[in-house]
Amino acid sequence: MNNSRIIVALDYATADQALKFINRLEPASCRIKVGKELFCRSGPALVEKLVRLDFDVFLDLKFHDIPNTVAQACRAAADLGVWMMNVHALGGSKMMEAACSALAGQAQRPLLIAVTVLTSLDEHDIKAVGLSGSTVQNVERLALLARHAGMDGVVCSPQEAAVLRKSIGDEFCLVTPGIRPAGSTQDDQRRVMTPHEAIHSGADYLVIGRPITAASDPMHALMTIKAEIETAVV
Ligand code: C5P
Repeated sequence: MNNSRIIVALDYATADQALKFINRLEPASCRIKVGKELFCRSGPALVEKLVRLDFDVFLDLKFHDIPNTVAQACRAAADLGVWMMNVHALGGSKMMEAACSALAGQAQRPLLIAVTVLTSLDEHDIKAVGLSGSTVQNVERLALLARHAGMDGVVCSPQEAAVLRKSIGDEFCLVTPGIRPAGSTQDDQRRVMTPHEAIHSGADYLVIGRPITAASDPMHALMTIKAEIETAVV
């Protein structure tokens, strides 16, 4: 059984590139994330192929629409055999409840995760879209709304993980991108944490892209990060 807490972001433009990379990873050593670009280019066929290769797939399409449309989209994604998928909490309680109901009764129910506030939005952007309060207040409120709607967890920045873990308890899944092993380049990420710090802050799963995908030996990079998080206090 896969108990890895690392989700490798498969940020490639084509199925060929993604599969070439995937060949260098062991399915049991990580999970993988397929986002909008790869999905729009390579579609459900690639997701099904990755599932057939025994990878746990996080389908990161961030659904946000009326409840019925999101419910049907979630059912369709679940039929692909994905392990995790997500929707925007700003779609509201009814939308999230519809998504949860759509997955109830699935033989292997995927984890359903909410996006609270995109980490690309700063305090000014948040006010401009009409939300009052600080970023962290909005994140906390939306995470609680997601939990009450029956969602399994949220995607959040590692900085928000500690606050959420305290206010929302242990049974809620926290998925954090923005992870950089000590000494590695930040790329375009601004507020990063090391894998050890993120786990220590309460994260359950770490989404990590370039520190693994751009490494000359991805399996070695992955195993080094795994060893690092095993030393974190959880
Ligand atoms: O290469 P890197 O580790 O920065 O990749 C992080 C992954 O997590 C990318 O797929 C990125 O789109 C995603 N992500 C993020 N920040 C968010 C939400 C998702 O970096 N707030």
